[in-house]
Amino acid sequence: MTDRNLLERAAAAMANSYSPYSRFPVGAAIECADGSVFTGCNIENCALGSTICAERVAVGNAVSQGHTDFVRIAIISKGTNYCVPCGQCRQVLMEFAPNLEVLCARGDGRYVSYNLKNLLASPFTNANMD
Ligand code: THU
Repeated sequence: MTDRNLLERAAAAMANSYSPYSRFPVGAAIECADGSVFTGCNIENCALGSTICAERVAVGNAVSQGHTDFVRIAIISKGTNYCVPCGQCRQVLMEFAPNLEVLCARGDGRYVSYNLKNLLASPFTNANMD
């Protein structure tokens, strides 16, 4: 699957965003080593702290279907800035895939690519619990 294909899957998920409070829809599509793809959108709540980001919905979709071997994620919004994952999502992604490729797109479809390791320096991992 090309980067562009994965971004299209994220954009399709963004169409289902429930974001009446921020009016900032986000979509995510996470790809596994076997090529399978799981998507998510942000789901907001009137109790604002109960909002879930698109990336964590995608991870939840994947994990609940038995997939944790992530290789790449595409994230897209309609904004003028690249949609990078928030700190909480970086931590959740780090749990499964320190080397994850992270494609961050903006509304016009342009995107930048990061390695998760560079987005979350000195992470707390399960090794820190030894
Ligand atoms: N949001 C995401 O879905 N992913 C991110 O990484 C950044 C923020 C959502 C949460 C909220 O619904 C809206 O964007 C504004 O913060």
